[in-house]
Amino acid sequence: ARVAILISGGGSNMLALLADMAQGDHPATPVLVASNDPLAGGLAKAASLGVPTAAVSHRGLARDAFEASLLEPILAAKPDILLLAGFMRVLTPGFVHRFAGRMLNIHPSLLPKYPGLHTHQRAIDAGDTQAGCTVHLVTPVLDDGPILGQACVPILAGDTAGTLAARVLVQEHRLYPAVLRRFATGDRTPLLA
Ligand code: GRF
Repeated sequence: ARVAILISGGGSNMLALLADMAQGDHPATPVLVASNDPLAGGLAKAASLGVPTAAVSHRGLARDAFEASLLEPILAAKPDILLLAGFMRVLTPGFVHRFAGRMLNIHPSLLPKYPGLHTHQRAIDAGDTQAGCTVHLVTPVLDDGPILGQACVPILAGDTAGTLAARVLVQEHRLYPAVLRRFATGDRTPLLA
């Protein structure tokens, strides 16, 4: 399966995915890493690993114009699967529809709890004892699609959003590659790691 990955920043999830796909036995191969920020650190890392990259700035562009530009390199790469990995732009229903059933996202909470931003602080403030991350199919409703995988971590006394985020990120880097391996073979059963 041909995989395109969309990032907005450092791309640590993207790197974990590329590292796993570099294993010989993987059913997927990366064909593009694209970002809405030309300065995203992940672009240089992807390029150094030999993966084609594209940067389309969203700045100053209406959402539809930005997405029309972003679609060009994506469609040219002919991906079978689109992975959002630290991609921080909300995509229109039209864009999502183009990739319905084959676009995944990783979200740093145990969905359906805490869709949106500041997930770790919200879990701490709520007095939760567990947090985690979710890989889900992307649908027009933000952070709401069918769940393909989840991983849990404990919330410890004295945790800050930063310490919790770091603990969750370790699980993100395990979960996303594991879900992609399963998804790329056509298996949709949720992975509860
Ligand atoms: C991570 O917390 C991820 O859950 C969220 O974006 C953050 C940064 O991801 N989607 P990355 O390091 O750019 O992959």
